[in-house]
Amino acid sequence: MKIAVLPGDGIGTEIVTQAVRVLNALDLAFEMEHAPVGGAAYDLHGHPLPTSTLRLAQAADATLFGAVGDWKYDTLERALRPEQAILGLRKELALFANFRPAICYEALIGASSLKPELVAGLDILIIRELTGDIYFGQPRGRRIAGDGHFPGSQEAFDTMRYSRPEIERIAHVAFQAARKRNQRVTSVDKANVLETFQFWRDVVSDVATHYPDVELEHMYVDNAAMQLVRAPRKFDVVVTGNLFGDILSDEAAMLTGSIGMLPSASLNASNQGLYEPCHGSAPDIAGKNIANPLATILSAAMMLRFSLGQAEAAERVEAAVKSVLKQGLRTTDIFSEGNTLVSTSEMGTAVVKALSQTTSN
Ligand code: IPM
Ligand code: MG
Repeated sequence: MKIAVLPGDGIGTEIVTQAVRVLNALDLAFEMEHAPVGGAAYDLHGHPLPTSTLRLAQAADATLFGAVGDWKYDTLERALRPEQAILGLRKELALFANFRPAICYEALIGASSLKPELVAGLDILIIRELTGDIYFGQPRGRRIAGDGHFPGSQEAFDTMRYSRPEIERIAHVAFQAARKRNQRVTSVDKANVLETFQFWRDVVSDVATHYPDVELEHMYVDNAAMQLVRAPRKFDVVVTGNLFGDILSDEAAMLTGSIGMLPSASLNASNQGLYEPCHGSAPDIAGKNIANPLATILSAAMMLRFSLGQAEAAERVEAAVKSVLKQGLRTTDIFSEGNTLVSTSEMGTAVVKALSQTTSN
């Protein structure tokens, strides 16, 4: 089991260190190799995704990714900015299926921005298409407008597009995921305005005929954004395109109390995957040993389950995380009166300790 470890920037190093400690405590035969990515890689090699880092990720069964980005790189040309590393990895490894679970842990109900009765028991799985849509559509750029309201003026443009096979494969992923959950899929689109998403709706409906046991509902993205804060528990699996998925997954994350708790998995057709916390590099708190490592530790659990075939170990890690929360241990982002405030490394230590106290059954 080969794991590429790419800590990246900001709090990336601190949180990945804790996830690696947890993995090592499992006593499984991992081969882990570290490489720089993002701003850290730009500083060392002049590029956010150096060839050596990309090759390492390509050769690995799974990549454990921290976070990338820092204000100091914001003035670089787009192709050299840290975010290009994550977009490049998605594209080069064909990681088209992004899983973003939004689970409200019982111990954290009070940390949600919504009333406890709306989020108690919340368990949504957002499946975001990750290698198509307006993120990667060509052409894009700047030009002088030939028509429109201001001909002859400067304009910028991007291309939104999806092909039938791209929509079909992500729809299959969603229906199959729903089969293992509550048999409901909400497909989010903007079919009332966009050609791309009328097509999306049509193709998802076609795929649905293969899954008569799963209930499919179509929803416009504006309504979905509203329903997520009105009655979030009505959702089971949400499947959507790259751009809408980016936005809705942040919204769903906040329902759970802290984005510091949310893991993610990005998979290709052969289950090779990249695993990263949903939060970013948080440069404002980097190096202070206060970031929440649980999203990264839970991402490592997803890695064990999806790419490494170690479902039992994944369950042990998830149980250990629940156990430390139950013990009242909290990093600052999820801290409230009556709990015990711990640092990043103390949280890692607590999870490792809880692991040794849990068994797989
Ligand atoms: C995410 C992030 C990325 C995205 C950025 C960093 C390129 O917001 O993973 O959601 O937009 O996909
Ligand atoms: Mg995002």
